[in-house]
Amino acid sequence: MVSNVMVLGSANADLVVEVPRRPSGGETLLGSDLHLFPGGKGANQAAAAARAGAATRFLGCVGRDAHADFLLQNLADAGVEVDGVRRGERPTGTAMILLTPDGENSIVVSPGANYSIDVAMAEELAPAWLAADVLVLNLEVPLETVVHVVGRAAAEGVRVLLNAAPAAHLDPVVLQACDPLVVNEYEARIVLGSDREATFEELAADLLAAGARSVVITLGAAGAVVGDADGVEVVPAHRVEVVDTTGAGDAFVGATACELARGANLRDAVRFATAMSAIAVTSKGAQSSYPDRDAVEAFIR
Ligand code: ADP
Ligand code: NA
Repeated sequence: MVSNVMVLGSANADLVVEVPRRPSGGETLLGSDLHLFPGGKGANQAAAAARAGAATRFLGCVGRDAHADFLLQNLADAGVEVDGVRRGERPTGTAMILLTPDGENSIVVSPGANYSIDVAMAEELAPAWLAADVLVLNLEVPLETVVHVVGRAAAEGVRVLLNAAPAAHLDPVVLQACDPLVVNEYEARIVLGSDREATFEELAADLLAAGARSVVITLGAAGAVVGDADGVEVVPAHRVEVVDTTGAGDAFVGATACELARGANLRDAVRFATAMSAIAVTSKGAQSSYPDRDAVEAFIR
């Protein structure tokens, strides 16, 4: 059985430097050697889906630079098809990350080529994403593009997993296409445009009432809330020794998409994703910490 996951989204080169503290205006600080990691939510989610065992294709846009070659090579190594990736005139997306001893990382993202994915480019790629069993999108590409693709894909019967990150308020028309919408607690509130006091279960119910066909709210070490027509339920996280949570949410999204494409129900998909992301937080990095399917199954057993 071929389970077909398409990810239309972002790819970023993560440039990481450790510094003793945040520099102030006008100051020059010496940091560590530069570390280069593959990142961007879309690329991470595609890598996770492929590691979990789905036939996965990444659809995005990178520049004509060395970072692009690096990102595409990493995706190919993870087993992701990259022949649908466009090369544009703008530089490859970049995240500049300062790691400070307080653990409060400072990050500047330059979206670059990711923001070249306009509706016209997405339409050129439509034959690919309309063939998906599960189409994954996030909001690191232009919102207008996501709104267009989500609407058209759902209308043509493609199952859409929208990870509304970074957070944005979403129209009910967009929510009605999401099966599921995946958000963290903060993003759930922004999507709803609501700051009322609510439990996580109530937030999930609110998102369903706002139109989402199904919803998953991730809660870090507390697990995730799953909601659909069958009700709302908490899936607890695994207790693990945390080393680096970077990209845990992306591992979760990719793994969920893989399981849904394989025909799992949403609760079972979230259980698998919870295990995959638990393993991911026990080692450094994002994509480099994603286990393969055998490792996830061994962990669950
Ligand atoms: P995001 O980074 O998008 O905010 P979360 O932090 O909610 O995402 O993490 C996504 C999922 O990864 C969680 O639902 C959980 O299953 C798993 N996870 C994250 N942090 C931990 C942790 N400290 N221990 C175990 N699992 C974790
Ligand atoms: Na990790």
